[in-house]
Order: sequence, then C-alpha cells, then structure tokens
Amino acid sequence: MKILVTGYTGQLGFDVIRELKARNVECIGTTRNEFSLTDTEKMQAFVKAYKPDAVIHCAAYTAVDKAEDEVELCDQINHLATKELANVCKEINAKMIYISTDYVFAGSGEDFYEVNDEKAPQNVYGKSKLDGELAVQEILDKYFIVRISWVFGNNGKNFIKTMLNLAKTHDKLTVVNDQIGSPTYTVDLAKLLCDMALSDKYGIYHATNEGICSWYDFACEIFKQADIKINVKPVPSTAFPTKAKRPHNSRMSKKCLDEAGFNRLPAWKDASLRYLQELNM
Ligand SMILES: NC(=O)c1ccc[n+]([C@@H]2O[C@H](COP(=O)([O-])OP(=O)(O)OC[C@H]3O[C@@H](n4cnc5c(N)ncnc54)[C@H](OP(=O)(O)O)[C@@H]3O)[C@@H](O)[C@H]2O)c1
Repeated sequence: MKILVTGYTGQLGFDVIRELKARNVECIGTTRNEFSLTDTEKMQAFVKAYKPDAVIHCAAYTAVDKAEDEVELCDQINHLATKELANVCKEINAKMIYISTDYVFAGSGEDFYEVNDEKAPQNVYGKSKLDGELAVQEILDKYFIVRISWVFGNNGKNFIKTMLNLAKTHDKLTVVNDQIGSPTYTVDLAKLLCDMALSDKYGIYHATNEGICSWYDFACEIFKQADIKINVKPVPSTAFPTKAKRPHNSRMSKKCLDEAGFNRLPAWKDASLRYLQELNM
C-alpha cells in the first residue's frame, strides 16, 4: 500500500503523514515544491510517476474571507484541481479521499445534517468545496468524501492558537455564541483517514470530534484547560461582521461512520486537552 497526501505543509496533511509513518505505510506528503494544484500537467505527471494506491487530498484554498474576492482562484484550487486529481486517480485506479466541509450546507436550523441532506453553500469557499465533492462523485467509484469542521492541528493557524495569543495581550475577550458546531483535531482525524484509506468502505462521511459547542464555549474550555484567567463575554455573530457568511448550524450526524463500522473521534474537550499538552501549555 502506497499513499500520496497533498497539503503536507497544512494542518491536516502534516498529521496524516505522521500517522501513516507511525503505521509503517509507504507514503509521500506533497507541497508546492512537488507541484502546485494550479499546474494540472505537473500534478498529474507527479501522481502518475508515484503511482499511489490511495490519494488523501488535504490541500485546499482555505482563506474563507479572501475567497469572496478571489472567486476564480478558489474555484481553480478547490474544484478544478480536485477534478483533475480525481481524473488521474481514475487513470491509475487509486482510491481518493477528498476532505470537505460543513460549509456545503446552508447552516440554518438546529438539526444535525445527514450526509445526503440538501446542499446550499452560503459563501464562495463552500461552493468551491461542494463543486469539488460533485466532481469526485462524478468521476470515481472508489472515493471517500469526509466533511469536517473547526479544524485544529499543530501545523498552522487555528482558533485555539488565536485564543491563546489574544490572551497574552488582553484580559477581556468577546467570542460569538450563535454558531454551533464541533471542533476537529487533526491527530484524531488522521487516524480515521488512514483507516479509511486502508479499507474499501467508500462513501460520504462526517467526521469531527464528538460533542457540540459554540465558539464561545470552545474559548471558555480552552482557557479553563490552559489555566488562563480571562474574562470571556458571549456575543452574536453580528458583533464580528465577516466578508464571507458563516453558518450558524454546523451540527453534522456521524451515523454513516457507525454504519460502516468506523470509530467515531473522541470528545472535543478530550481532544483540546491533548492538543494543549502537545503545545506544552
Ligand atoms: N481549517 C478548517 O477549519 C477546515 C474546516 C473544514 C474543512 N477543512 C478542509 O480540510 C482540509 C485541510 O485543511 P487544513 O486546515 O489542514 O488547511 P491548511 O492548514 O490551510 O493547509 C492547506 C494546504 O493546502 C496547500 N495549498 C493551498 N494552495 C495550494 C496550491 N495552489 N498548490 C499546492 N498546495 C496548496 C497549502 O500549502 P501552502 O502551505 O504552501 O500554502 C497547505 O499545505 C482542506 O480540504 C479544507 O478545505 C478545513
């Protein structure tokens, strides 16, 4: 078994490679040095030459607000490059794992989204990731689409790091409490993605750490776990206008994981505690 992972410099790609290496699976993590996702020819030539049995596609255009101004570039990376990667996977008969997002849904109401619920992305990034999903489904039979949300990992920027940094210079913070979802720790997700890559239980899945919270709840828990005394005040999203609209409801059902016999990820509070330990907090 040989696996190619895109986005090695990103939060998720880095931990997926770490997990594969820990399992002694032959693998390569690609960066812009090997190919840019915008250079189809170079990307396809590289993948064909390496000839993996599976591709875990972690690389993406992830600047959600900037995407509102860079619509074409976002589409090129998240949609068109995904399509071309799927085409080369088909050609070499490789499985493909495409990482997607809660942003493919409208994000209204309070119900947990099932994998096949209606899609209605509310921003450019969400639309580009959905178009990536649709391309994968159209081209391949051997695919996994894994929707995740609120990602934190060692290798990159994330909400936990932002909160810890803000706490160095503030004794009061306001955090939104009307967006509800689930954090996803890359170390935990990497284990599931490797299990998937080594299986043939293809399909669409939701995979986040267990439990739901608001960003406000998440911030309070981080400060509690890191033993940081700070005054955190809950505020509505309207207090932080953003260029790209954010979903209020990111609850996603994990029924599909259960039905396929995959383990759910641990509780998010357990994950954030382990992450803080990894950061030496
Ligand atoms: N972060 C979240 O909260 C979140 C939520 C839901 C879903 N997701 C999805 O989860 C996956 C992993 O996210 P992440 O947080 O690990 O992302 P990340 O830390 O932002 O990493 C993105 C990766 O993609 C690479 N990349 C971007 N444009 C590229 C290009 N043109 N050519 C080659 N590589 C390129 C980046 O390389 P450089 O370092 O060189 O730029 C980086 O390695 C993505 O599919 C994302 O859409 C993320």
